[in-house]
Amino acid sequence: MSIDFSGTDDKQEKKQSKDELLSAKLTTEDVEEWSLRPQHLSEYIGQDKAKSNLSVFIQGAMRRGEPLDHVLLHGPPGLGKTTLAKIIANEMGAQLRPTSGPAIEKPKDLAALLTQLNDNDILFIDEIHRLNRSIEEILYPAMEDRQIDIIIGQGPSAASICLELKKFTLVGATTRSGQLSSPLRDRFGIDLKLELYSPEDLRKIVTRSAEVLGIEIDYEGALEIASRSRGTPRIANRLLRRVRDFAEVTGDGVITKAAADDALLRLEIDKLGLDAIDRRLMLSIIKNYNGGPVGLETIAATINEEAVTIEDVYEPFLMQQGFLTRTPRGRCVTRAAYAHLGLRQVTQDGDQLTFED
Ligand SMILES: Nc1ncnc2c1ncn2[C@@H]1O[C@H](COP(=O)(O)OP(=O)(O)O)[C@@H](O)[C@H]1O
Ligand SMILES: [Mg+2]
Repeated sequence: MSIDFSGTDDKQEKKQSKDELLSAKLTTEDVEEWSLRPQHLSEYIGQDKAKSNLSVFIQGAMRRGEPLDHVLLHGPPGLGKTTLAKIIANEMGAQLRPTSGPAIEKPKDLAALLTQLNDNDILFIDEIHRLNRSIEEILYPAMEDRQIDIIIGQGPSAASICLELKKFTLVGATTRSGQLSSPLRDRFGIDLKLELYSPEDLRKIVTRSAEVLGIEIDYEGALEIASRSRGTPRIANRLLRRVRDFAEVTGDGVITKAAADDALLRLEIDKLGLDAIDRRLMLSIIKNYNGGPVGLETIAATINEEAVTIEDVYEPFLMQQGFLTRTPRGRCVTRAAYAHLGLRQVTQDGDQLTFED
């Protein structure tokens, strides 16, 4: 059926095919990432709380022969939200229809997606916090009553009709659940928060990925990469590939603790997994703002990184490590950060920073 949102059709609008809308463009790295993604809940490592709750909800829904309630997944990038969305579809024996907030530009894009869904389909909206409000509002009745109102025709003959949708499940993923409006948030029956992974869980992930990619790695080597991956599987997998490059070119291809340590040192990843940008971030707060407090935008401008990247990617780990705090007046680095950076003394008049080593 064709949906006509009168008045919303913009001549300039670039035509987006259904396929484009449904599948984001894939890079080589993405393709490799998909191959590393576990397909079933039993292969999904860590996140025990989220996993065991989800498993109960899935079994309950299956037993009743109903689709799963709508699921919101939140947590920093690279923790396994997309992976989990695919796993939910697999476990429910359902079709995954992936799209993302920024890909849905118009109300009718979303209406088209929704009306094409079949019973039990899983509509996955990545970065759901980036849906604009007028589009978001279409989701409210869609999620609650499985229907949408659309307007057909133009002018005096225009009529609003209500379309029934199939029994679908919405899975939304977001790095910033705080940005979701509360009406949207409230319509998710299942709310799963993903946490940073422990080194032991990441070690299992590295070992599993090495097996999939045919990389030889020993226990200590995997643990070394794991404990320097900022609690994040995507980083662990990326470091594994880079360390493999070094191990193959400069060694015998086997990743041992020594090989991993050597490669990570060259990549400027320190013992805790902090990279050059983490250090630059902390150092700039110390050097330019006396350790803080300083506003996020100011830090972003100083180190020339996007504020959202700092907030979503860098800060969660630095805060978890106790190196950074968020206060109402801005960000502050802690004593532990000074110690980790090997900072011996900071003088009042600025430039006199002394480093050990
Ligand atoms: N629990 C897990 N077990 C094994 N691998 C995982 C797990 N979580 C994430 N990964 C791996 O980390 C990578 C990033 O996961 P992804 O689902 O894309 O994260 P997000 O969508 O949260 O950014 C994927 O390649 C996936 O293989
Ligand atoms: Mg993702």
